[in-house]
Amino acid sequence: MNTPLRPRLLGPALIAGLLLAAGGPVFADAPATIDGAAIYEENCATCHRRGKAGAIPLTDTAAWSARVKEHGRDQLVARAIKGFSTPAGDEMPSRGGNDDLTDAQVAAAVDHIIRQTTAPATP
Ligand code: HEC
Repeated sequence: MNTPLRPRLLGPALIAGLLLAAGGPVFADAPATIDGAAIYEENCATCHRRGKAGAIPLTDTAAWSARVKEHGRDQLVARAIKGFSTPAGDEMPSRGGNDDLTDAQVAAAVDHIIRQTTAPATP
């Protein structure tokens, strides 16, 4: 005989799941489950590793630190999502040119860049 799933146990589990989802980050805060480094490697490194097409190279920690200080992390994320052109005419495509990336994935890639370029070495 089949015993139906017990709703009394399912209910609380569902509610806990919903609460977790609702309490999660709202805009562009990258959940820890998103691998910013991998997203960066796949979508951003072509330009940002060495500074191709006018992009700020990852090695230029002074320039990145200045950007973060000047604009703030959220502004950098917003520009990476929306795309960005400089007065000099250099262009970054929206989401690094990959429209499949979610806001959170782009944010995770930006956070990776920021970690690589501004953060003091952490264990
Ligand atoms: C086609 C080349 C290219 C790709 C691919 C690319 N970028 Fe850029 N990125 C640029 C250029 C050009 C700039 C502008 C440089 C400047 O401001 O001097 C830039 C600037 C930025 C900035 C600084 C924005 C600001 O407010 O100053 C961030 C952050 C950034 N990119 C993140 C990313 C991320 C994250 C990805 C991958 C999802 C990515 N980029 C992919 C070319 C690229």
